[in-house]
Amino acid sequence: MKKTIEDINVKGKKVLVRCDFNVPMKDGKITDDIRITSALPTVKYLMENGAKVILMSHLGRPKGKYNPEFTLLPVKERLEELLSKEVKFLSYETVVCDKVRALADSLCDSDVMLLENVRFRSEEEKNEVEFSKELASLGDIFVNDAFGTAHRAHSSTAGIAEFLPCVSGYLIEKEVKFLGDALENPKRPFVAILGGAKVKDKIPVIENLLNKVDTLLIGGGMMYTFFKAEGYEVGTSIVDDESLELANTLQKKAKEKGVKLLLPVDSVCGREFSNDTEIKVFDKENMPKDMMGLDIGPKTVELYTEVVKNAKTVVWNGPMGVFEMSNFENGTKCVAEAMASLDGITIIGGGDSAAACDKFGLADRMTHVSTGGGASLEFLEGKVLPGIQVIEDK
Ligand code: 3PG
Repeated sequence: MKKTIEDINVKGKKVLVRCDFNVPMKDGKITDDIRITSALPTVKYLMENGAKVILMSHLGRPKGKYNPEFTLLPVKERLEELLSKEVKFLSYETVVCDKVRALADSLCDSDVMLLENVRFRSEEEKNEVEFSKELASLGDIFVNDAFGTAHRAHSSTAGIAEFLPCVSGYLIEKEVKFLGDALENPKRPFVAILGGAKVKDKIPVIENLLNKVDTLLIGGGMMYTFFKAEGYEVGTSIVDDESLELANTLQKKAKEKGVKLLLPVDSVCGREFSNDTEIKVFDKENMPKDMMGLDIGPKTVELYTEVVKNAKTVVWNGPMGVFEMSNFENGTKCVAEAMASLDGITIIGGGDSAAACDKFGLADRMTHVSTGGGASLEFLEGKVLPGIQVIEDK
């Protein structure tokens, strides 16, 4: 068990909180603030308990240089709306400087301050000790609540913990509880649904899940690599040619372990990668040479829905098709709906699957939607995430 903010006295202390405010932006405006609202329970607890709260985060990939496109100013403004309180903010390209230090020192109990994008400093992603020390010099306690960035060993997520006591915030605690319980103590039948384009990217997850689940459902672009490996025609579908042998090996491993690995039996195909293209449904044995698979077909939807219906725990990562295009969203939508209707534990790995749940208005009906894309994937791979490893044990 990891220590949390409730295990320490925060009153009057300068508490540095690493959040993941890496929110999607369009024309300088935040288009989805779930990562900000997910941080609020921790921020509010610290405010209510008299801490001087200093928040930090990265935004985008500014490559270690100041770039106004990636300033956290819009996040400061959104935080002020959500907290109905001033959030102090100084935008310096060095992130930390004497003025920022003076502002941190002048905070009263329950005040909130936000540092500028920590990735404006090239040392951040290299986890350089000097930058970790600089950040640590601003506070008395380090709270890691950035689940979405917990798979990165950076100065503000891991290095800083060498210089300050480190506990977790509510978000990391919740993510680890839901994802961890699903993997380690699942109610069975335990079903995992994996989609996405490349088999190679998903191998470590598939391998880890084969030791845990009863059934593994495969969808998304990677199904065509499995089809081709089995000797079927896949037309112009996306194929990860380097992973053909691997696809067969994974099928063998599943058999050895007594795990049902199910592949789609049909797909919705298009002549081109476009929503307006000519569309036809083919069984996997009959795909033509001149069309590409862009979604799982209706027979597969029926099959997968039935499996989900009988499950007690379902973990899902990766869409079933190109759900961003309305003509190829059905597979992803139906799987999400089956999960939403399940009287069991339903866990959505972040990234595209979380975006799909949002699009179909189903996020609220899942047990847990992770805020981490890469982080939840690495968690499902069974890796120890550096940002979680540094949190002190109870
Ligand atoms: C994410 O969006 O997955 C996290 O914020 C991590 O961002 P990164 O992939 O740029 O490290």
